[in-house]
Amino acid sequence: MHEDAVRNRLWIGNEWVDAEDGGTFQTINPATGEVITEVASAQAADVDKAVASARGAMAEWRKVNPHKRSQLLWRLADAIEANADELGALETADNGKPYFESRKIDVPSVVEIFRYFAGLADKVQGATIPVAGPFLNYTLREPVGIVGCITPWNFPLSMATWKTAPALACGNVVVLKPAEQTPLTALRLGELAAEVGFPPGVLNVVPGFGETAGAALVRNPDVDAIAFTGSTEVGKIVMREAADTLKKVSLELGGKSPNVVLADADLKSAVRGATSGIFYGKGEVCAAGSRVIVERAIYDDFVEAFAKGASKMTVGDPMDSGTRLGAIVSEEQLERVMSYVEAGKSEGARLVHGGERTDVDGKGNFVTATVFADVEPGMKIAQEEIFGPVAAVIPVDDIEDAIHTANHTIYGLAAGIWTRDIGKAHRIAQEIQAGTVWINTYNQYDAASPFGGYKQSGFGRDLGYQAALDKYTQTKSVWVAVDG
Ligand code: NAI
Ligand code: MG
Repeated sequence: MHEDAVRNRLWIGNEWVDAEDGGTFQTINPATGEVITEVASAQAADVDKAVASARGAMAEWRKVNPHKRSQLLWRLADAIEANADELGALETADNGKPYFESRKIDVPSVVEIFRYFAGLADKVQGATIPVAGPFLNYTLREPVGIVGCITPWNFPLSMATWKTAPALACGNVVVLKPAEQTPLTALRLGELAAEVGFPPGVLNVVPGFGETAGAALVRNPDVDAIAFTGSTEVGKIVMREAADTLKKVSLELGGKSPNVVLADADLKSAVRGATSGIFYGKGEVCAAGSRVIVERAIYDDFVEAFAKGASKMTVGDPMDSGTRLGAIVSEEQLERVMSYVEAGKSEGARLVHGGERTDVDGKGNFVTATVFADVEPGMKIAQEEIFGPVAAVIPVDDIEDAIHTANHTIYGLAAGIWTRDIGKAHRIAQEIQAGTVWINTYNQYDAASPFGGYKQSGFGRDLGYQAALDKYTQTKSVWVAVDG
């Protein structure tokens, strides 16, 4: 661990401050159970202070011209890149995911996203509109104002980036509330932003708990928008609370994403895709392919190969390069995962691999890669988001059955389809109710491609320039009489 990179106070107005009541909470390395540090715990008063700092920064931030804003975002990308090893190690210590994932996948994608939105910063523009009468009518695309970003623990730095990069690019100021389990990389992000020249108050980071710091941000009347990623349950609370001050809300919530394998699929690729689809990131991925829906004609062969794929998901020290399955983020989450394993067993699904709590050198929150076969679409493990390395394999008779089963959920975040028949692939892509569909691949993301949910997986999109403009700007229509 890079001790030098550990920051543990509130980041307000480009300064480290303690919580007003002096309160702190522990952030823990889930692979060892060790306390990394005590972090200042923001209460409502601290959140309000951060919001006031953001409000105070707006006048100066407005004067920073768009090219300069673009340059600041680009410089922040450079700073993240220059500190990639440190940020990767920090993320792994806080979250438990393999260092390979944080350092080689998360951090590079974060750099790319800041660069992509650096490119947007000087292209946020309005239009001139042909209207009736002697008028010039044009639109201004203006920032929404203060954006409150509330992010989860599964991809801490990535989720902070998905929200803050487009919000800042569009000229907003930000108060970021990272998840209490994993606040460290967000705090370092705030500091790096100051180092490259972001003015005080433009990006504030207030670690703390959801019911206190998160709720205070949603309630604060001076916050104009809330960009939230987390559970569907809390998403509903956020929307309800935000109604009092009519904030612009966007919600990226849970999922129970289907990974549909048709009989004519390339079995080897499908097994590989199903395996990484559920076990990447320990299954703590909102788009995890947690329901693997397989045509009966290849069902037995698939289940056998999938169990073998699961057996290769080596549990180990997240810092070891051979580790494929890291530590579950918290004791609480581990218990939740294990309770779903028990539910799968008691509801009569067939456990074909894993399902055990384990440890590394006698420590840590580890679970083996778990595959349940013969799962009925109505079972708990087929309906509820587990957010752990647990796959539910569901046999289906044909394509119609596959589509019906895939859509038999309250969620609609993502889906995968495995087939060699392009006609079938595109047809299913149209029929499945999900914000992202992957054909013969899984878990692909790009700064330019919008990501978000259908149904109870939320609304609003992250990534992509159009989604950024929708979420982080508002349109003003200006009328000018031209008949003098
Ligand atoms: P959560 O939804 O409670 O946490 C997400 C964020 O919301 C955190 O920053 C948290 O502090 C904040 N928050 C919590 N309550 C709040 C409130 N009343 N007002 C404002 N902000 C609040 O998720 P949790 O409890 O950590 O995980 C529970 C389950 O949620 C997981 O097992 C998983 O199924 C799901 N989840 C889904 C995520 C996704 O990416 N879609 C991410 C995290 C969790
Ligand atoms: Mg932690």
